[in-house]
Amino acid sequence: MKNAIENIRSLAHKALEQAASPKEIDEIRIRFLGKKGEITAILKQMGSLSAEERPKIGQLANEVRAHIEKEIEGRIATLKKAELDRRLLAEKIDVTLPGSMQPIGHQHPLSQVLGEVQDIFLGMGFSVAEGPEVETDYYNFEALNLPKNHPARDTQDTFYISENILLRTQTSPVQIRVMEKQQPPIRVIAPGRVYRSDAVDATHSPVFHQIEGLVVDKGVTMADLKGTLETFVKQLYGSESVVRFRPHHFPFTEPSAEMDIMCFECHGKGCSLCKKEGWIEILGCGMVHPKVLQNVGLDPEVYSGFAFGIGLERIVMRRYNIKDLRLFYENDIRFLEQF
Ligand code: DAH
Repeated sequence: MKNAIENIRSLAHKALEQAASPKEIDEIRIRFLGKKGEITAILKQMGSLSAEERPKIGQLANEVRAHIEKEIEGRIATLKKAELDRRLLAEKIDVTLPGSMQPIGHQHPLSQVLGEVQDIFLGMGFSVAEGPEVETDYYNFEALNLPKNHPARDTQDTFYISENILLRTQTSPVQIRVMEKQQPPIRVIAPGRVYRSDAVDATHSPVFHQIEGLVVDKGVTMADLKGTLETFVKQLYGSESVVRFRPHHFPFTEPSAEMDIMCFECHGKGCSLCKKEGWIEILGCGMVHPKVLQNVGLDPEVYSGFAFGIGLERIVMRRYNIKDLRLFYENDIRFLEQF
């Protein structure tokens, strides 16, 4: 019987050594120490022992039971520690690793320069107006003194949605919308997208941006136009910039002009940047046509005004010497990051 007890001790020891989970350990506890376990079975046979042997075997059985209990505790602790170590290793954070940088986006060059242009005009007391990109024929053409069949309509290859609805070919319709809503004095700029059915190349895109300007009040003259636009150019391109006005024709202004800036590359001599002209055209402008004022119910005998239209892509290309318009729309990060 003594051997049997010792045998239980070593069997339990071996089993515990191999136990890999709390469940297995529990099974071992039941097998050896449970009510129907092996130790209990031994104790049940104690009746057959002599009075002399009984306490010795009893003591031994208790000892082995205590020993197995202790070993179980030890094994549980070992498993717990191993589990903890495993988790600590898996969840380890190396605080010395370099962080992963999030790339920071920035404004598109068109938006940056538009922001500058807006700031310059806000500084001169202008506010910013907006109009719809899907326009009616009336606002885009008719009210701007371009009646149906007017030859100048052909120069603006229009995307028509229906007979009277189109994608605006210019920001000039915002002039009409502003004057319909607001009484003079008016001083607004209206930046936005415009559409023309042009094939894409280095200088043409079916979508581009204009910045419209409109000033209407009593006694506004061509001198105001020149002073305002010259101030704008000197703030945008530097105080040494030189401008000139060339007579031109627009249906919605009379007189009309185009404004050129002296080429900053060759200072008027003629080079590849200005195509040997010495001057670079940057905007169209003029005194608001009396018919346009009448179309919005303003008396041309009382009010006068000037208007201008700036091509945003153009001034950004001039500013950074960008030769291909397509770069603005392809969103190649290597291009955009340079600004
Ligand atoms: N809307 C004209 C265009 O797209 C540009 C323009 C010229 C606007 C003269 C004006 C202006 O306001 O006065 O070609």
